[in-house]
Amino acid sequence: MSSALTNAPYRAHGKVILLGEHAVVYGVPALAGALSSGAQVQTQPGRGLLRISAWGVEVDPTRSDDDRSIAAAYRALRTALGLDAYSPVDLALFFEVPTGAGLGSSAAMAVAIARALRAVHQLPIGDAGLVDAAMASETVIHGRPSGLDHTVAVYGGFGLFVRGKGLSPIHAAQPVPLVIGHTGRARDTKGRVARVAELCEQRSDETQARFAAIAQLTERGRRAVESGQLGELGAAMSENQRHLSALECSSPEIDQMCAIAHDAGAVGAKLTGGGGGGCVIALAPQQESSVREAWRKAGFDAFTTTVGGPLPEGVS
Ligand code: MEV
Repeated sequence: MSSALTNAPYRAHGKVILLGEHAVVYGVPALAGALSSGAQVQTQPGRGLLRISAWGVEVDPTRSDDDRSIAAAYRALRTALGLDAYSPVDLALFFEVPTGAGLGSSAAMAVAIARALRAVHQLPIGDAGLVDAAMASETVIHGRPSGLDHTVAVYGGFGLFVRGKGLSPIHAAQPVPLVIGHTGRARDTKGRVARVAELCEQRSDETQARFAAIAQLTERGRRAVESGQLGELGAAMSENQRHLSALECSSPEIDQMCAIAHDAGAVGAKLTGGGGGGCVIALAPQQESSVREAWRKAGFDAFTTTVGGPLPEGVS
């Protein structure tokens, strides 16, 4: 029996960027790790509707006049997969990570949907086809994505991502434990990416110098992950945060959370993803609970995780 009929879930990873967001849009390598959860899709007999109960949303792909970005993204993804508006199943999408937080939820959504449709329609495409389909969806949602989020959503693990070249896996000497806290404000990927583009025009030399410095930090971070030197990785993260702040991607909440994390024993802290809001990551070996508690006391939700591992089950 096909998995469409057994209603097996189709999953994809969320992600954290440890080093290099924004600069990655301009060709600088970024260091990213997959979260073990992201999004999942369940199927049931139907006609191709997409339901996202967390948002109270239903999308009918036959309605080409539906101009909500989620509807346009779903249509773009179907087109990229070579599908028309009909499928013999409806899709129910569930997020496993906070959305709008810089943790790659929209990319995980696109990849989990593409995996479900690939199985249902028995499409002869591999992982590269999933990456292309998710790019179509992410372009609708984010404007000019580097491709990092959905590439990590497909492949998982730890890697160095370069725009146009893809993800090169790297082997972490040990899992990287992180505390992830939410600013309480949605991340603003589209707006921040647009602002960095303006800075490239308005302050070209300074911005290029920052990208070059971030490239060195990413390389330092890669070596630190491979050799298990978490203190080095943390120092690179905090330095990266200073550049992101100068690139106008931080926010008062992000700055406050980074300061709290350092006071509570973190060796590194920074925004992750688009910034302007969203999540902050803190590297605090053996001090995770003090950082989490300090954030919670200040009113920021947080959880502890490790990055770079496989999906628990159900990838197809
Ligand atoms: C978003 O998770 C990361 C950014 O670098 C944008 C992108 O890579 O497309 C801000």
